[in-house]
Amino acid sequence: MCGIFGIVSRKDINIGKIALEGIKRLEYRGYDSCGIVTQYDSKLFVKKDAGKIDVIHKKLKLDEFPNESKLALAHTRWATHGAPTKINSHPHLDCNDKIAVIHNGILENFIELREELLSKGHIFKSETDTEIIPHLIEDNLKTNGDLKIAVANAIKKCIGAYGLAICHADYPDTIIAVRRESPLIIGIEDGKTTYCASDIPAFLPYTNKCYILEDDEMAILKAGTVEFYDVNNISVPKQKEIQKIDWSIKAAEKGGYKHFMLKEIYEEPTALRQTMKISNDSLKDFAETLLSAERIYITAAGTSFYAALAGKFIITKFLGKYIQAIECSEFKIELENSLEENSIIIAISQSGETIDLIEAIRWAKESKQRVKVLSITNIVGSTITRHSDKVLITQAGPEIGVAATKTFVTQILAQSLVALEIAKLIRTESNDEIQKYYNALYSTPKVIENFLEKNIDLIKYIVRSLEKNLNFFFLARGISIATAKEGGLKLKEVACRFIEGYSAAHAKHGPISLVREGYPIIFIAPPDNTYERLIGNLMEFKSRGGKIISLVVKEDKKIADLSDITIRIPQPGDKYHTLFSPITFIPALQLLAYYAALEHNLDPDKPLNLAKTVTVH
Ligand code: F6R
Repeated sequence: MCGIFGIVSRKDINIGKIALEGIKRLEYRGYDSCGIVTQYDSKLFVKKDAGKIDVIHKKLKLDEFPNESKLALAHTRWATHGAPTKINSHPHLDCNDKIAVIHNGILENFIELREELLSKGHIFKSETDTEIIPHLIEDNLKTNGDLKIAVANAIKKCIGAYGLAICHADYPDTIIAVRRESPLIIGIEDGKTTYCASDIPAFLPYTNKCYILEDDEMAILKAGTVEFYDVNNISVPKQKEIQKIDWSIKAAEKGGYKHFMLKEIYEEPTALRQTMKISNDSLKDFAETLLSAERIYITAAGTSFYAALAGKFIITKFLGKYIQAIECSEFKIELENSLEENSIIIAISQSGETIDLIEAIRWAKESKQRVKVLSITNIVGSTITRHSDKVLITQAGPEIGVAATKTFVTQILAQSLVALEIAKLIRTESNDEIQKYYNALYSTPKVIENFLEKNIDLIKYIVRSLEKNLNFFFLARGISIATAKEGGLKLKEVACRFIEGYSAAHAKHGPISLVREGYPIIFIAPPDNTYERLIGNLMEFKSRGGKIISLVVKEDKKIADLSDITIRIPQPGDKYHTLFSPITFIPALQLLAYYAALEHNLDPDKPLNLAKTVTVH
């Protein structure tokens, strides 16, 4: 949700080009408009406009700025306050064009602040909340001449979420970065260049050494050095620990694939294998905490919520306790009067920054009840990790495609590993049985590899055969409802089609009225204990003329025989493999969405109106 990139360097580089490449790598965070400001000779040079970065670059030559300039801020926007127009694009400047600000987040009290500043004679050009900030800094600089103090005073007046990068025309070697609730990472090439960005991949080609800025921390970036302060005590610098990120830059590049989405689907086997290396100690810790809980909730948003729905099934199977799944935006409302003592919350988030999730767990932790939070995220040091008692980091690597794919399978895998750890601790299953579940789980990368090798033509054929059907259903029962819902979400997101994942049993209570001759229905049909009932549901649709497409295991006969088209997932149909079917079945639906997007000339990496990290309510 808005991408921020800042660079200050002493190297002989084309600063505009690096800033442009930086926001290109952050484009998945928002792509309504973009802008770059560089600074040289006590002047700011701004280029910005509405539209996607490549289009604006063609028009404005975003890599052409004064050669001498060694400082730049760059921004890619996901519009909240103010339409995606040139005027509303970042950076925003003060009245004298001396102070430039780029922002990710939302200022809640911007109307009051704007009125206060207007009454003092400030002139605003945009409709954004962000434009308040350069004017507030300008105002503060009038009373004290120190930029650092002026920024601190300005942001103390702001209520809301912000990751901010700020520069001033008269401070040739200084970027000030400050955050609250919106992520901001500082990257450093010692003695040469310092970066700030909303996400690590933005500066990963240059350095993997970084500092993760926390709420109310300020960083003063100079070329190759950085100092940190607490916004409420800016007289004394504070020490922060440097972190080394072990992601390779290759993982954040397309590497020959046409789109990140496709690349990331193909990376699922590797992501799963990496995530299998989560340490036994952390899994045991998670498992023991869940065993000690009186009440367990699982919460997340979007794809992560569907991973939670699948994971809850798998954990419950071994834990034998009910886990209540609640979408994070509804968490507080649902539990306001009923959150119980000794509850545990499992919170799942790819980015670790989803604001509704952070708010839910913060609320629960601050309540009188002694609630613990166990989180699963892909991002080390993300906000969720700071509000959690225990954390499992999935090892999917950077996910750049806006539609989550490889993180979904790793989130289910991480929960499955916890489930099997619980099985080992409570010993209701024999060691031999548990080992069979492990073997099945460990085979998931190979199953996906085999599927990807042989089924692309079939998926493309199905996409073409569905061309005329603007809406249809993925139907399933039991754990596969999670798979169906995630498949439906992928098609909505990237192919702009209203495809709904739904309970096959529940579908006869309404949705079945849509069925006409040739109406397609895709059944997700692993051979679990819902299989026979699913056949009944399938017949209800088939007998009304529905065109049945089914997703089954390799040796399936009954449902395959009843289907017009069958997609076979190359895995055994025993109970061990079937338990983990959301991991092995989802790539087929992700690919369906991907090729449907191409069929409609849509860019699957940048779905309309979406952004990858949702840091607004
Ligand atoms: C779907 C998608 C979103 C996210 C949701 C939660 O493809 O990417 O639905 O799953 O915004 O994001 P995280 O997992 O970062 O909390």
